[in-house]
Formats: sequence, structure tokens, C-alpha cells
Amino acid sequence: MSTSTIFHRVAFIIGGGSNVGMHVAQKLKTEGYRVAFGSRNPDIATLEQKELFPVSVDASNPESIKSAFDLVRTNLGEPSIVVHNVGIHFQPPVRNDPFSVSSDTFAKSCNIQLALFVAVQETLASFRSDKSTTPKVFIGTGNGLPFLKNMPPFFLALASQKATMYTMMDYASRAYAPEGFRFHYATLVGPDGGLPNLDPSAEVGFYNSGPAHAKAFWNLISADVAKSWDYRFTYAGEPLMT
Ligand SMILES: NC(=O)c1ccc[n+]([C@@H]2O[C@H](COP(=O)([O-])OP(=O)(O)OC[C@H]3O[C@@H](n4cnc5c(N)ncnc54)[C@H](OP(=O)(O)O)[C@@H]3O)[C@@H](O)[C@H]2O)c1
Repeated sequence: MSTSTIFHRVAFIIGGGSNVGMHVAQKLKTEGYRVAFGSRNPDIATLEQKELFPVSVDASNPESIKSAFDLVRTNLGEPSIVVHNVGIHFQPPVRNDPFSVSSDTFAKSCNIQLALFVAVQETLASFRSDKSTTPKVFIGTGNGLPFLKNMPPFFLALASQKATMYTMMDYASRAYAPEGFRFHYATLVGPDGGLPNLDPSAEVGFYNSGPAHAKAFWNLISADVAKSWDYRFTYAGEPLMT
């Protein structure tokens, strides 16, 4: 067993970019985690300079997910925190005709759901082989599409991905609570509980919500008592009061 396994808790972020992934990674690092940072094309030099462990992973490919977990285990140890931050919007060629997406394109979208299933399986294997009392938490970055009504038709493929994630987090949170494992579908929402502002130039909105995600995700990880699997939070990173 390497010294890193003995002295460090390990987190694995799948779908790490500059917004959610990087802010969550930095927060976990300050809390003492060694963080594996995965995407299809990781910027290895930049990540190493930030003391993050770069992982090349395609979250639409189950075999790639398995290899990535193996890489993290071998180099850092078993992850006790896994963040799944991938959701791909496949825009239909005819904007408001959701079924104008080709079946090949829709299959690519479905592969993200299949690979998420495998990511949960790999996470369970890691959680079970880590006998320490460190919190074991899987967080899927959500959006409101599974629980909001009358969403625009062009979101069909992305809504299907997130509906699958939503269902998996519900089932996993109940099935594995007796083992002390937590699964969350964690969603930034707007002030009314709807979609956040999705305008990239907005002063406050999704595209500068990295700090809010980092705060909300850490609130989930560090909670003494597990919070709801369906966790909605505000621009301030605080739980949405309903
Ligand atoms: N709350 C809401 O309403 C809301 C709104 C928008 C988005 N979201 C969710 O927020 C998450 C993304 O947020 P973000 O701002 O952090 O995005 P981001 O900064 O674009 O980072 C996402 C990263 O995922 C990586 N990626 C894309 N496809 C991948 C794949 N197949 N396998 C592995 N990595 C992949 C990309 O890197 P590579 O190109 O190197 O792979 C990218 O850097 C998604 O889950 C999305 O659904 C929620």
C-alpha cells in the first residue's frame, strides 16, 4: 500500500472543467483530499501544476470509466468521493422537434447513461474496499430537467441523461444507506426553484456557479447526517428553502 493511500483521502471528479469541476476540486484539496480530475482531454501540465491528478476518461464509454477508476486506485488509492459532472446537450437539428435527433446521436446520449451505471458500480467497489470511516459520497451534478414541468422540447436527450441520473441517485441512496454510503443528485436552481440563469454573460447564473457548487457539495460531504438525495441549492450554495 502506498503512503498516499495511508495518509490521504481521495476524490475523483469525472467531467472536470473550469467551472464546477475545478471549484469542487480546489475545495476538496483544501480539505485534505488528493483529487483525480478526469475529462476526455485533460490539460496535464496545468492540472499537475495545481496538484491535481489528471485522468483521461470518456464518460460515454463504460470501459473507459473502468480503466479510469483503476488508474485512480493504482496511483492515489480508492476514492471515497466521486463527482459525476457530465451532461451533454445534443441539440436537435430542428430546434423544437426533439425526435429530429438521429438515432445514432441519441445512442451517444444513452451511452452516457450506461457509463454512469458503470461509474456507480465502480464507486461501490471502491467504497466497499475502503474500510476507513471517511465519508463515502457520490454526487451527480444535476439540472432541473427531471423534476421541472414544461421544459423546452430541444432538451430531450439531456433530460433523458439527467432523468436516469436522478433515478439512479434515488435508488442508490436508499439501497446503500445501510452501508453508510451517500448518493446525491445535486442541482443549482434559480431563486424560484426553476432553472438557473443560463446566459453565459449573466452576472449571476450557472456559468459562474463553481463556488456555489463547491460549497453545496462540501455541505453534502461534511454533513453529520445525510441530506436529501435530491438536493437543490441556490446561487449562494445554500439549500433551497421550500
Ligand atoms: N443546474 C443547471 O441547471 C445546470 C445548467 C448547466 C449545466 N449543468 C450541469 O453542469 C455540469 C457541467 O458543468 P460545468 O460548468 O462544470 O461544465 P464544464 O466547465 O464545461 O466542464 C465539464 C467538462 O466535462 C468534460 N467532458 C465533456 N464530455 C465528457 C465526456 N464524454 N467524458 C468526460 N468528460 C467530458 C469536458 O472536458 P473534455 O472536453 O476534456 O472532455 C469539460 O471540461 C453538467 O453535469 C451539466 O449537465 C447544470
